[in-house]
Amino acid sequence: MRSRIISTGSYLPERILTNKDLEQIVNTSDQWIIERTGISERHIASESETASDMAAQAARRAIERAGIGVDSIDLIIMATITGDMPVPAAACFLQRNIGAKNAAAFDINAACSGFLYALSVANAYLLTGLYKRILVVGSEVLTKFTDWQDRNTCVLFGDGAGAVILEPGHGQNGILCVDIYSDGTMAELLHMPGGGSKHPPTEDTISNRMHYIKMKGNETFKVAVRTLEKLVVDALAKNDLKPSDLSLLIPHQANMRIISATADRLGIGLDKVMINLHRCGNTSAASVPIALDEAVVSGRVKTDDLIMLEAFGGGLTWASALIRW
Ligand code: UT7
Repeated sequence: MRSRIISTGSYLPERILTNKDLEQIVNTSDQWIIERTGISERHIASESETASDMAAQAARRAIERAGIGVDSIDLIIMATITGDMPVPAAACFLQRNIGAKNAAAFDINAACSGFLYALSVANAYLLTGLYKRILVVGSEVLTKFTDWQDRNTCVLFGDGAGAVILEPGHGQNGILCVDIYSDGTMAELLHMPGGGSKHPPTEDTISNRMHYIKMKGNETFKVAVRTLEKLVVDALAKNDLKPSDLSLLIPHQANMRIISATADRLGIGLDKVMINLHRCGNTSAASVPIALDEAVVSGRVKTDDLIMLEAFGGGLTWASALIRW
């Protein structure tokens, strides 16, 4: 038995922020952002829009495409680091928004790897038979936690949500493996120091700008490039497969140079890599499911294709999923 993704959906907020717009906000240039990141524009949530609102939009699309009743969903797992409130879980607001009254709901925080972590939990539950129909969503409103005075980070992030619905399947197709990894010794490479039990919110944490995402970009970049090739090769090797067997690689969309270096090391042409970074920026846990949905909708993923999802992010965390579609 294998878990199967039976449908996908995604949502991007209407408002677009271009690199030219950013030139008016910080000391940067369209040219620098494109050359160093590959990003041209990103979608930005409206002031009232929350992570669960966007998750609901993506989830409704996935539910409609699956042709299922919302009552049949028995578990909701939401991957986010930008939930509506510290308590309760954004997944509970999502449950209420879509009216999935028979589902248990909880969040997972594994930063940019969050969607794949959530997928690994869903996969394990389906394989044990404990749950039968699971909604997994990655949704982020990173731009509300972005320091618009910090040019090192504010040019990188965007908002959005992506969703999948999973069921047990009985053939050979489905999730072949999901692998998750962490290294907490590098936790401070990408973090938001304020607002938790270490630095609860005070006037000082606010004036010291501790409630914004901070990243040591260059160090994170180097670890990402080192790690991602091995991540993909290991997952393939466990299944007696090699990079050339892949129909499509769907990477976390953080930086075009990371994506190209990974593809290069794997010997995969960019025509076999799903890229929407130029339009979406880095949407953390939403990035992989948005890219997956766009790949499915545009016909780049067909039955029997072998696809690899991979991500790398704060924690540090990294993860992959190998799927026979
Ligand atoms: O999604 C989770 C994981 N995240 C990632 O994987 C992201 C990993 N990191 C990156 O994508 C890249 O490191 C960045 C895009 C964040 C930065 O690129 P970089 O090539 O590593 O640049 P850098 O941080 O080494 O900075 C190079 C120069 C610096 O100037 P000096 O010190 O050499 O004079 C920066 O101050 O570029 C400067 N700089 C900028 N210049 C114009 C940094 N940000 C900007 C900017 N516009 N927005």
